[in-house]
Amino acid sequence: MNDLHTHALPDIDDGAKTLEMAAQMLEESYRQGVRVCALTPHCTIHNEQALPRFLAKRQTAYENLKEYLKNRQVPKLVLGAEVYTDHDLSQHEGISDLSIGRSSYILLELPFASKYEWIAECVYSLNLMGLTVIIAHLDRYSAWKSIMEALAGLKVVYELSSSSFLTFFGRRLVKKIIQRNAKFIISSDMHNTTTRKCQLKDAFKKARKINPEFADKCLSEITII
Ligand SMILES: [Fe+2]
Repeated sequence: MNDLHTHALPDIDDGAKTLEMAAQMLEESYRQGVRVCALTPHCTIHNEQALPRFLAKRQTAYENLKEYLKNRQVPKLVLGAEVYTDHDLSQHEGISDLSIGRSSYILLELPFASKYEWIAECVYSLNLMGLTVIIAHLDRYSAWKSIMEALAGLKVVYELSSSSFLTFFGRRLVKKIIQRNAKFIISSDMHNTTTRKCQLKDAFKKARKINPEFADKCLSEITII
């Protein structure tokens, strides 16, 4: 199983606070069956310096983590980012460096209140650059229908949060969302070992109960390595 949205890289965003917390998060993830884990810290590009600064900080954090994880049983790690979508996103030089591992998938976080037409233009520009967009936690946006309608026909995969499969109202929502004809994955979006931990194993159990075919498709939708 892949987990393509996590905040296990320490000391870079609101995710893992320490190397030890990161190690525990990733060990738990491995126990739940994750074998490839993308480290996707939040990334907002305010200006020209922001992207190179983020990449350097991420690389340092990654090297420290790799060193710390020696002899611990964790998934294979790949670098990525949860990129905040703004109007100029596709114009920034080096934007492809934020894709997950060496894949053509880039994880985008959308603004909450917005018109989604400009986002479709942004996604289209990224598509033209050869990138397929993963929309992070679609289930978190009350405007999910408008988002899907605006992005219809573009190269997009929708990510659903594992936590939504674990509550009554969350399941009610995802049941509606997955009726739409689109590509989906389920990710943990884990931030720590307590309030926002990895719950993928239980989420997939529930997803399978909702629709076994859907759950299997989510597992095989994206290959990163
Ligand atoms: Fe996230």
